[in-house]
Amino acid sequence: MRRIIITGGAGFIGSNLVHHWCETYPDDYVVVLDALTYAGNLNNLSSLKDRDNFLFVKGDICDRESIDHLLQSHQIDTVAHLAAESHVDRSILGPGAFVQTNVVGTFTLLESFRNYWLSKDKPDHYRFLHVSTDEVYGSLEPEDSAFTETTPYAPNSPYSASKAGSDHLARAYYHTYGMPTIITNCSNNYGPYHFPEKLIPLMCINILLGKPLPVYGDGLNVRDWLYVEDHCRALDTVIQKGLPGETYNIGGNNEVKNIDLVGMLCELMDELAPDLPVKPAKQLITFVKDRPGHDRRYAIDASKIRNQLGWQPQETVREGLRKTILWYLHNQNWWQPLLSPDYQKYYSQVYG
Ligand code: NAD
Ligand code: DAU
Repeated sequence: MRRIIITGGAGFIGSNLVHHWCETYPDDYVVVLDALTYAGNLNNLSSLKDRDNFLFVKGDICDRESIDHLLQSHQIDTVAHLAAESHVDRSILGPGAFVQTNVVGTFTLLESFRNYWLSKDKPDHYRFLHVSTDEVYGSLEPEDSAFTETTPYAPNSPYSASKAGSDHLARAYYHTYGMPTIITNCSNNYGPYHFPEKLIPLMCINILLGKPLPVYGDGLNVRDWLYVEDHCRALDTVIQKGLPGETYNIGGNNEVKNIDLVGMLCELMDELAPDLPVKPAKQLITFVKDRPGHDRRYAIDASKIRNQLGWQPQETVREGLRKTILWYLHNQNWWQPLLSPDYQKYYSQVYG
């Protein structure tokens, strides 16, 4: 049995991980720490609120005193750290929040956990999982091999630079203090509870609303897509079987060009959604100005986690997208309130 704290547990991947954990380990004690920024949403966790061994705490990972108190008062043995500013376009508009949460916040959590772990005489089973991204490795050319755990870091956006900084801190806490940190670097996720600003939910929602589908640049950038439940199973595997001080890459083995992905979404929407305002939906595709510093291609070599820990993705892109679209169709009252005036303001800043 574990006593786990999941930071960022009201966000996209965090809330999927909380559901995965509560279903897989119903006797574990689960605390969620989340500041409920624009990306955090308590509705993602509403079905869990009456559980005895689940607690939601609204708080900031930069607040050292509160974290010290949480670790101690709930006798936490495992940290799954997902809280972050996560959207590249927002990091281009305003990098400050990314440095604060991703670098200073991760440092604060690491320091608090180190102090607590020392006070307990360094138990062997304690774990600090730092969840990171493939974007820290930079951009690949079409013929390059996929990122491995030893690919040198070359972050290109304020988001990926701040995640790289936090990865280095997590690594240093193992090498310097022997603290049981483990790092995972994962490719693009998709699935339920994905905030509307990201490519897949943005396209699904715009198709439903009959709005243009803004594809950056020439649409030939490549991402390696992973269904979020596959990512949660990987994080679970790493917590249970991963070795302290190690890094594990996690990927879907599903490289797709953006324009092909949007095309697939249009076809699936034409098939699954009743009464679309514009059909076929692909008429809505519009090429727009490219994202500054837009990384061309990401691809993950996930052979280490497959060979050493026995994890591999189960979902194909087509099936995963079908499930995701059905989720957005059946949960309009989840995403509609997220299209708030603040969100519209952000949308006009990015898309004009
Ligand atoms: P998200 O933006 O959906 O959620 C982030 C959560 O963190 C939100 O609930 C937010 O309220 C919370 N948060 C933000 N600042 C906080 C703070 N200072 N204190 C406490 N909570 C705070 O992000 P996501 O897509 O779920 O990503 C989760 C993690 O996984 C991030 O670390 C991200 O870098 C990493 N990651 C994401 C992807 C992806 O495709 N989405 C892929 C690889 C890695
Ligand atoms: O690779 C992992 C990363 O994936 C995570 O670390 C990030 O937190 C997550 O946001 C995601 O980053 P991306 O920048 O790859 O995801 P996004 O959904 O923003 O964009 C995916 C691709 O689609 C990218 O090439 C940019 C393009 N795009 C995106 C949007 C929002 C468009 O062409 N049009 C759009 O409107």
